[in-house]
Amino acid sequence: MQTVNRIVPLRDAVAALRHEGKIALVPTMGALHEGHLTLVREARARAAHVVVSIFVNPRQFGANEDLDAYPRRLAADSALLAEAGVSLLWAPAASEVYPAGYATNISVSGVSEGLCGAERPGHFDGVATVVCKLFHQVLPDIALFGEKDWQQLAVIRRMARDLDLMRPHVTDIIGVPTVREADGLAMSSRNAYLTTAERAAAAVLPRAMKQAIAAIAQGRAVADALAELKAALVAGGFHTVDYAELCDADSLAPLSERGSGSARLIVAARIGKARLIDNMAA
Ligand code: PAF
Repeated sequence: MQTVNRIVPLRDAVAALRHEGKIALVPTMGALHEGHLTLVREARARAAHVVVSIFVNPRQFGANEDLDAYPRRLAADSALLAEAGVSLLWAPAASEVYPAGYATNISVSGVSEGLCGAERPGHFDGVATVVCKLFHQVLPDIALFGEKDWQQLAVIRRMARDLDLMRPHVTDIIGVPTVREADGLAMSSRNAYLTTAERAAAAVLPRAMKQAIAAIAQGRAVADALAELKAALVAGGFHTVDYAELCDADSLAPLSERGSGSARLIVAARIGKARLIDNMAA
């Protein structure tokens, strides 16, 4: 695995790999876990070469979020990626991505604004901006993101459609389904913040979500099913439900009725010290 941290050698390295077939990009902020490795495996199955970016993007951290405390483990991450068969690691410094005088921001309205976007103003602008730059830097044929962060995926898809970055122009954006534990809880580095008792209790989240989806499919009013879902989470040990919404899967507009289009149930709730997010097709 080759590692590059400047744009010119990145372009040269990608151009050399492109002769051998499709290039897949897996954007990350490092501190890699099983979820990232699932994206890498999926990328390897779909492309001749996989490029992984590791960049802790300052623009997606809010004023009250500790950018300096974000884990940085480049050596360990690099070893994992080499073992996973990644061809190229793109690990630029912040000054390479945002040189002095940098002044451009990409803001995707609508889809960025509700759910997690309401609590983290500017966060999805930072994500859209850096992902747009990564697409231009690497020019991948495909890019893979976890469906676990459905809002992020929806923002990136909207940005790429709006800026003509999606296939057939540039990149095919692939959402990779959430990997779950045996009891249904979505895998997340945040699960590590849970005590044994909280971890056991947290399985109520996917269970209650499935029940709400089944109830809506059977004709229960969306507002009632969501109220029951929130009550089940609180009864099951979550102390706060930040939101639980049925949304249009693309625009993330809240739905008060199921309708015929594709819909997603999206939830964020807190248990112990962890804020867990999950989403399912509804
Ligand atoms: O999901 C992440 O790790 C980040 O938000 C991403 C997509 C790499 C952009 O910095």
